[in-house]
Amino acid sequence: MNIDNIKKEFPIFSNKIHNNDLVYLDSANSSQKPLVVVNRIYDFYTKEFSNVGRSVHYLSVAATNLYEKTRSSVQKYLNAKDKNEIVFTKGATEAINLVASTFSQEFLQEGDEILLTELEHHSNYVPWHYLRKSKGVKINFAEIDEHGDISIENIEKKITPNTKMIAITHLSNVTGAILPIKEITQLAHSKGIPVMVDGCQSAPHMKLDMQDLDCDFYAISCHKMYGPTGLGILYAKKKWLDNLPPYQGGGGMINEVKKNDISYSELPNKFEAGTMATAQVIAFDESINFLNKIGIDNIISHEKKLLDYGEEILRKNNSVKLIGNPQKKGAVLSFTIDGIHPHDIATILDEDGVAIRAGHHCCQILHDKLGLTASARASLGVYNNKDDLDKLNESINNCKKIFNK
Ligand SMILES: Cc1ncc(COP(=O)(O)O)c(C=O)c1O
Repeated sequence: MNIDNIKKEFPIFSNKIHNNDLVYLDSANSSQKPLVVVNRIYDFYTKEFSNVGRSVHYLSVAATNLYEKTRSSVQKYLNAKDKNEIVFTKGATEAINLVASTFSQEFLQEGDEILLTELEHHSNYVPWHYLRKSKGVKINFAEIDEHGDISIENIEKKITPNTKMIAITHLSNVTGAILPIKEITQLAHSKGIPVMVDGCQSAPHMKLDMQDLDCDFYAISCHKMYGPTGLGILYAKKKWLDNLPPYQGGGGMINEVKKNDISYSELPNKFEAGTMATAQVIAFDESINFLNKIGIDNIISHEKKLLDYGEEILRKNNSVKLIGNPQKKGAVLSFTIDGIHPHDIATILDEDGVAIRAGHHCCQILHDKLGLTASARASLGVYNNKDDLDKLNESINNCKKIFNK
């Protein structure tokens, strides 16, 4: 599949937005969906639908096989050791809540500490914040440097004898910083501390290898990977899934239920209570196929070229201030323009058909640190090209004209 021609795989690009071609630069928020994924959902509901893992009739067995096929594809994509280390959730947010909640029940006590970073999305802060009240847990934040990066040294500085978990992003959704997860995990493990990685922004853009990274938990958001909404993935090492209690109770996660006791299913069913997002899981196999057909190496080099080009034109555009200049950077261009509120920038760009995001991007701690209340963010996906970035720049110039900047 040729990446330079990939837009035609996405039906949304045949629509006009305010009479303009759509320039979609909001993939860090959520990606658009290729037709193969949309069709897979339609076909499943119209020809193959059944609930999974319950009945013995033809449709149910076939649907269960398809559901488990996606689990195998995800295992391969992540190079996880065991298929049962892949748990489906309703999103990355639920995956992180699952870890925080179950880990705290089994392994945390008053006075224990969780180490986060100033880059974290609210989804990787709020679930840990709950534990302040319920468990008396303390939260520390590794600080960003002047480039918007998190160095190993800044992580090490905040580790204490009470640190019981390091929960960090792989790729910042604001500065684009790519964190050295393998090195952080080595450091953490040398001190007996497990590592949970928020992989929402890395999974669509980077080659992932769970066995090489060696982290304990990795949370993924499928709707950012050209997949359906309502679906996330938690990768967790088997030793953790074996030792953590279930997150939610209900059908599908039990082995035997008696009036005086209950035993739980084998992995990974123990963590998949109730009717799951069946159609989404089955369609996500097409998203993985789609990514594999393009090839992650092609995606990385395509997005790197675009990122470099985007940075070059935005740096030349005086009064645009890019946020962060990390050593290793993913496909995110966050910026401000003095004297124009990011929401005004996004609204004016939208009139030109250019979709970006404005606000704190669920990273208020980072914006506070940078002395900002909000920023504008253009983020890239496989379907973007240089024309999209030229259109972004052109539209920013329109916006500057309107505000006399
Ligand atoms: C870095 C990061 N973490 C977590 C999330 C939450 O993911 P989900 O929408 O799958 O719950 C997002 C989504 O915006 C994100 O960008």
